[in-house]
Amino acid sequence: AIEPLVLGIETSCDETGIGIVRGRTLLSNAIASSMDEHARYGGVVPEVAARAHLEELQPAIERALAEARVRLEDLDAVAVTSGPGLAGALMVGIGAAKGLAVSLGKPLYAVNHLVGHIAADILTPDSEPLEYPTIALLVSGGHTSLLHVRDLTTDVELLGETMDDAAGEAFDKVARILGLPYPGGPEIDRAALDGDPAAIRFPRGLSRASDLEKHRYDFSFSGLKTAVARWIERAEAAGEPVPVADVAASFREAVVDVLVTKALAACADRGVPRLLLGGGVIANRRLRELTLERAAAAGVTVRIPPLSLCTDNGAMIAVLAAELISSGRPASTLAFGADSTLPV
Ligand code: KG4
Ligand code: ZN
Repeated sequence: AIEPLVLGIETSCDETGIGIVRGRTLLSNAIASSMDEHARYGGVVPEVAARAHLEELQPAIERALAEARVRLEDLDAVAVTSGPGLAGALMVGIGAAKGLAVSLGKPLYAVNHLVGHIAADILTPDSEPLEYPTIALLVSGGHTSLLHVRDLTTDVELLGETMDDAAGEAFDKVARILGLPYPGGPEIDRAALDGDPAAIRFPRGLSRASDLEKHRYDFSFSGLKTAVARWIERAEAAGEPVPVADVAASFREAVVDVLVTKALAACADRGVPRLLLGGGVIANRRLRELTLERAAAAGVTVRIPPLSLCTDNGAMIAVLAAELISSGRPASTLAFGADSTLPV
């Protein structure tokens, strides 16, 4: 089919995502999140995520089919995230995808989660097609990656990634230090509203001249997290009240400054005047603001898909497979498994 009807399954982290597309058209995007179940642990617990996928997959598939008004038999292909992500969580989606594809006699496409985030842009309503090459910055609770995309289906280069915590994870951990609930990103964003981003100068990870030689496009947030913890310990030891808004605003500024600086450095170095954002941290107000401000000054066009397509979802997996099918890529054999560190 020129416009293949594809069902995509995404279970790499805590979202159970089932999306259906026809070619580049979004038909449905059903999501169930186990975020609430992880809240009391302050982070995603792999076993809890895998069990939630088992429970949520079937109802999510039914919701997606009903909303798209298609039947399983109508599908041209099934697609699934095979990595990177949590191995146990990935396995649940892969098992379901293989079962569906075999029982329906349809081709199965194993796809890369990070490339899926890039493909999500295709589904942005009323937008012009994504132009290549583009630099992509993907920031979520599970990843922080900078990529050079020359062609979505054949040429995606990973420029750098986090050496320790993901950006969203850093928000979650610092929120915990500040006594704010999980997930911490939205909480810190809110707390920062009344704060001064210049109140405290927190470190920008891997940004010194000596770091930039080897880690120009890599990120590190664990030192920043420790710096926040130390700063609060010192204030408390001195009997001073902790200025939560200032700490939140200054921490957020440090994260966002590094993300935007490195993404725009990649655009400049590679001569690419386009930047695509993806991942749940894109919800951050300051990240959007600073990206748009500095990109405009640098002559870089920014694309930000709607948040429902930026967070983990099945539609981005389905549309990536649809692109692969249209480009003539053969289906995957059944001999693949979960690959928690799958390269792009
Ligand atoms: O893509 P996503 O929904 O899923 C996973 O990574 O699993 O991203 C969730 C992450 C969490 O770490 C959350 O704290 C962060 O994105 N996040 C934010 C904001 N909203 C969500 N981080 C910073 N600012 C926000 N407004
Ligand atoms: Zn993701």
